[in-house]
Amino acid sequence: MDHQPVLADAVVELLLPALEHGGVFVDATLGRGGHALRILEAAPEATLVGIDRDPVALESSRANLAAHSERVRLVRDNFSELASVLERLGVAQVRGVLLDLGVSSPQLDEPHRGFSFRVPGPLDMRMDPLRDLSADTVVNGYAEPELRRVIHRYGEERFAGRIARAIVRARPVSDTAELAEIVREAIPAPTRRTGPHPARRTFQAIRIEVNDELGSLQKGLPAAVDALEPGGRVVVLAYHSLEDRIVKRFFVDQASGCVCPPSFPVCTCGAEAKLRILTRRPATPSAQEIEANPRASAAKLRAAERLEPASVAPLEEKRSA
Ligand SMILES: C[S@@+](CC[C@H](N)C(=O)[O-])C[C@H]1O[C@@H](n2cnc3c(N)ncnc32)[C@H](O)[C@@H]1O
Repeated sequence: MDHQPVLADAVVELLLPALEHGGVFVDATLGRGGHALRILEAAPEATLVGIDRDPVALESSRANLAAHSERVRLVRDNFSELASVLERLGVAQVRGVLLDLGVSSPQLDEPHRGFSFRVPGPLDMRMDPLRDLSADTVVNGYAEPELRRVIHRYGEERFAGRIARAIVRARPVSDTAELAEIVREAIPAPTRRTGPHPARRTFQAIRIEVNDELGSLQKGLPAAVDALEPGGRVVVLAYHSLEDRIVKRFFVDQASGCVCPPSFPVCTCGAEAKLRILTRRPATPSAQEIEANPRASAAKLRAAERLEPASVAPLEEKRSA
């Protein structure tokens, strides 16, 4: 299945006001360039910096964006390194950043990448094939308590203990099909019969660990905000609650400004609101979009706009809130 850009109309609508007079737009999770293409078409004055840590994704987006190649620069890197990517390109500030998190459909659909519990493949799951840590190290190498922690924390899996024990007992685990079967059998039969595939949470957990997905997000969000010029916009699509919680808290925090206790007559913390939140509630796909693209079902879109820096004053009078 081709990767269909999720909530593409909403993404364009939210980014366009910042890009209609041109400027640099960063698609920090380029994938096959589905969202990037929509934005290049909608904002003919804008230029794109496209980032992905997966060289295969970069090559397919190079082909998909060929009609706009003079406005496109592609970089293979982790978006957590956004500041140094932009510095290398000589870009001081940008007007828009998109983070469409997680894996792409082509990554999931290629059995040899080892992301899918539905097809047999090697225990890999690396978005960046040069990364040392692969699913094999996690599945066959981690001590049981560590494995349980990963499955519990990143899969929010209540049977993490049983699953970790079963994996350790079955070692060496040879491929994704065997892993999926071990997980299925470790889950109590009544639970197995309801809800999504019983291995879904465990595979998600191992993938997050292998790619340090939450660590990258925690570094990438402030880097995106720091790169934005006033009026620039950041849009984030998250696909599970762990990611969405990080995005939501970060936006609220950056939009809050002063954190002094209400009893203080003047602000002493100096914290300044950097963002205005544009999505009071996250946007989610319609039933129609989910029917056409079931992988969109968990998507939550949040967006925010960079504020002008407040005038520099060492002791700012507190607003009566
Ligand atoms: C959901 S797909 C993006 C799809 C894209 N929006 C499109 O329309 O084709 C996510 C992509 O982000 C990449 N990715 C995930 N985490 C990354 C990170 N920390 N740094 C760079 N790329 C990352 C993945 O390799 C994958 O290609």
